[in-house]
Amino acid sequence: PLTTKAQVGQWSAQYIADTINKFSPSADKPFVLGCPTGSSPLETYKSLIELYKQGIVSFEHVVTFNMDEYVGIAPNHEQSYRTFMYENFFNHVDIQENNINLLNGNADDLEQECAAYEEKIKSYGKIHLFMGGVGNDGHIAFNEPASSLASRTRVKTLTQDTRMANSRFFDSVDDVPRLALTVGVGTLLDAEQVLILAAGHNKALAVEAAVEGCVNHLWTVSALQLHPKSMIVCDEPSTMEL
Ligand code: GLP
Repeated sequence: PLTTKAQVGQWSAQYIADTINKFSPSADKPFVLGCPTGSSPLETYKSLIELYKQGIVSFEHVVTFNMDEYVGIAPNHEQSYRTFMYENFFNHVDIQENNINLLNGNADDLEQECAAYEEKIKSYGKIHLFMGGVGNDGHIAFNEPASSLASRTRVKTLTQDTRMANSRFFDSVDDVPRLALTVGVGTLLDAEQVLILAAGHNKALAVEAAVEGCVNHLWTVSALQLHPKSMIVCDEPSTMEL
């Protein structure tokens, strides 16, 4: 484990930059990156922006797919995942607007929105690297406990635990949306590699379930045991149950 959350950010950013550079993306052959929101990736995005400013990595030929979005809050709401991504990453690097893919939680037909997202991913072949955080209860993206491990992008009802955990970003828990759109566990498992960020003692049970538990749908992060190339980048406190 790395000692601090900042080190988790620096290490993961360097790893992502190296992976993009090794791939050597071009207009015809873009690198496809899966992106999370939440507090876990903040340091990673900060470090990626730093690496971009230093000329170490470019996002000009990087296509992104975000993992999830709340249903029913305005796209420009300060807590929408769209807003998060522009403020914390997209506005600071050379990514092209038409290479950014975000789920629209205000689409008239949410099921159609999810199906179209899966199709769009498929049109690129696959996601080369899916970065993610993990919820205290072991959920990845918004694949809440008891999600099918074969699930695809869909509408998901958020658990009360998740709404309470995320209420720190809203005025009250009642303001946290009840539904979200999320890529499925199956969508994540299809990526060429998956990199999960875990920092803080509140992630310790999730890390334990992911590493030492059996594969089960109550801790959806445990599904990564089925993936040939997945890793969890941990700080010291998140490993205390191992
Ligand atoms: C939300 C997101 C997840 C994220 C989780 C953990 O539920 N949908 O993608 O991994 O929160 O958030 P944080 O990184 O803030 O602890």
